[in-house]
Amino acid sequence: MNKTWWKESVVYQIYPRSFADSNADGIGDLKGIISKLDYLKLLGIDVIWLSPVYKSPNDDNGYDISDYQEIMDEFGTMSDWEELLAEVHNRGMKLIMDLVVNHSSDEHQWFVEARKSKDNPYRDYYIWRPGKDGKEPNNWASAFSGSAWEYDETTDEYFLHLFSKKQPDLNWENPKLREEVYKMMNWWLDKGIDGFRMDVINFISKVEGLPDAPSEPGKKYVSGHEYFMNGPRIHEFLQEMHKSTTANYDVMTVGEMPGVNHEQAKLYTAEDRGEVNMVFQFEHVDLDSGPHGKWDLRPLKLSDLKENLSSWQKGLEQIGWNSLYMNNHDQPRMVSRFGDDGKYRVESAKMLATLLHMMKGTPYIYQGEEMGMTNVRFESIEQYKDIETLNMYKEKSEQGLAHETIMNSIYVKGRDNARTPVQWDDSENAGFTTGTPWIEVNPNYKEINAKAVQEDKNSIFYYYQQLIQLRKQHEIIVYGEYDLLLEHDPDIFAYVRTLGDKKLVVVCNFYAQEPTFELPNNLSFSASELIISNYPEVEGTVKKFTLKPYEARVYLLE
Ligand code: NOJ
Repeated sequence: MNKTWWKESVVYQIYPRSFADSNADGIGDLKGIISKLDYLKLLGIDVIWLSPVYKSPNDDNGYDISDYQEIMDEFGTMSDWEELLAEVHNRGMKLIMDLVVNHSSDEHQWFVEARKSKDNPYRDYYIWRPGKDGKEPNNWASAFSGSAWEYDETTDEYFLHLFSKKQPDLNWENPKLREEVYKMMNWWLDKGIDGFRMDVINFISKVEGLPDAPSEPGKKYVSGHEYFMNGPRIHEFLQEMHKSTTANYDVMTVGEMPGVNHEQAKLYTAEDRGEVNMVFQFEHVDLDSGPHGKWDLRPLKLSDLKENLSSWQKGLEQIGWNSLYMNNHDQPRMVSRFGDDGKYRVESAKMLATLLHMMKGTPYIYQGEEMGMTNVRFESIEQYKDIETLNMYKEKSEQGLAHETIMNSIYVKGRDNARTPVQWDDSENAGFTTGTPWIEVNPNYKEINAKAVQEDKNSIFYYYQQLIQLRKQHEIIVYGEYDLLLEHDPDIFAYVRTLGDKKLVVVCNFYAQEPTFELPNNLSFSASELIISNYPEVEGTVKKFTLKPYEARVYLLE
């Protein structure tokens, strides 16, 4: 396995709208980010992934781009962005940009042209079809509720939008479109960026004919995912993209890929295939969803999580590379979801961080995770801003589902859980803005904030700092092989990493129970050192110990 900087890095994701506001308009911006770079440097991260900052009407908070080469007015100017890049580089960090090219905004000039007439030169940049028997061309559902097709009167045809109707899908079958995208990517690469996170990039190749998906009882529209996820030309497109752009720069790429398994991920990330460096897979964040999708709640089983994360660790052991994440701007807060955001918030946040950062792969930290920010429970649906949540609420209410039932799903899974403003201090609006925030702050900001964690040497923040430093000190954390321990233990998630004659034993208690860990006999060693733990006092030795609630320990054996 080749050694590369992006395998040795820790990435920090910034969702700019909610990060830091410098001009009191209630919306985070680039100057706000610049003002917090020293904080990120102190944390010790290597790479910043910036969610979209491009010009956008903000139907989906910037994931609907109307100009790929301009900065969104609310966020600042291109010269602010250039200053950001320079300041990131000055501090020895790197910057990767979000690339959203499965779709654009309907306000993008290409689409404005495309919808004018059937013979417009830009028509084929998008996916147009005539209606079928006076209805949509097929029965696919949009990820944001309703049909995936929108009727356009001017030319009496429908266009495809897998997301909102203001996010028309780009037509990757058209070589001219592909060329434009590569040109735009090279323009950013030439500005000196360090890579791309690629939005739903495994959706860009659709099955020819766009067939109806098998119908489901009681549903007018159904997900057509088998016709666009990992589609027929996907590897060809990604290889062409790589050759035409990123292959010529020393950069990293991570493809967001819903519905990818580790066999497919191997194809996407095998180094000799030249596609992407790593993918964001979704299997582990779907384990607490029922058959009807993300809003269909079911409890997470630790056994499922162990099995799933281990299958990815083993699956990409020889070929490919993992990305390690438990939350981002689309997922609920990890301490609320996988830990305990009440009594053991601090302990469980540290335990989850240990579990993830000691695995093989590149860890991603989502803004606020390093202070243990939690999910939010707004009382009224009016306080929510996310298009996915609002459309779902409307659709389910019309179907007669009770308000409380819908709100409960939103409390557990809604994307706004991750999008409340970063809590910088205990002043009004958590120090995020001196204006009115675009979305309300989580009322727990007086207790949970960046100032508080920086003042407390035992905080979650400094624990992350320690985890990141350990990664720099011990190669085994980056390159060691992974093996699950105590597969059937109901409370403990434990594993061992191996590199040469060294071993790293990682033991995490997932609950408030106090189970006992016993090291399997076949792991021999002559010296052991505890390199990190989330309790100040530890009892026992690596061979046998009783774990406190949500306790995590990492031993280095030689
Ligand atoms: C995935 C992004 O992470 C999400 O925020 C967005 O809504 C969809 N792709 C559509 O771009």
